[in-house]
Amino acid sequence: MSASAEVRVLPDLATLSAEAAGEVTRAAGEAVAARGAFAIALAGGSTPSALYALLADPSREAFRRMPWSRTHVFFGDERHVPPDHPDSNYRMAHEALLSKVPVPPGQVHRIRAELEPAQAAAEYERELRRFFGSDPAFDLVLLGMGADGHTASLFPGTTALEERERWVAASWVQKLGANRITLTLPILGQARALVFLVAGADKAGALERVLSPSSAGESLPASRVRPVRGRLLWLVDRAAAERLRRPVSSE
Ligand code: 6PG
Repeated sequence: MSASAEVRVLPDLATLSAEAAGEVTRAAGEAVAARGAFAIALAGGSTPSALYALLADPSREAFRRMPWSRTHVFFGDERHVPPDHPDSNYRMAHEALLSKVPVPPGQVHRIRAELEPAQAAAEYERELRRFFGSDPAFDLVLLGMGADGHTASLFPGTTALEERERWVAASWVQKLGANRITLTLPILGQARALVFLVAGADKAGALERVLSPSSAGESLPASRVRPVRGRLLWLVDRAAAERLRRPVSSE
């Protein structure tokens, strides 16, 4: 695991989400001040929905601080379903956040997962290259982690996890019996900031392996997300952190 990783343990999902909202607004302000825009890749799954709801709440400071008109929203991965499907990460983000904040529609860069998987991946990569040019530096990438140590849609044993050149890959995930489209390790490593959001006792085993100084977790996909130049922050709740031995900062 990257020695430069910071781990913060929060009491529960609500406080973890509030901490994450602070990280998002801080990264957004720094990016806009430095480069005039903020490029964020959203995580899928269920954990981030509480964060998205906080960011979408106009009564909260996070909403007011966000430079929505300068924000470009991307996705870390997508299931191979249409955008209105219950399993769609885009649908979750749209319902919890994007339908409630004034990000210009042309600045929401959806993975068109209704296409054939390889075509969806190729098209998303073209979109990323149009936006970033040859230096794909997201200002912030939000990531979750599964109980098996996967992150984004980089699952153990998949071709996407072993991709070394392309920024986006499609792969069949045997354990799910489904195709997924995902950012790959090469592009994730170029991010200015990578923030993992991990909550729940079911993640404790994988989190202990990923964060332990031993090599126990080095093969897990989440362990292999290493920033080349940016920062790596783990925001975890007490339940997920229950097996962590090393001293970490507790909020
Ligand atoms: C997805 C996510 C995936 C997710 C983890 C954790 O498409 O499902 O990209 O990597 O972050 O599976 O999911 P939960 O937050 O639902 O536990």
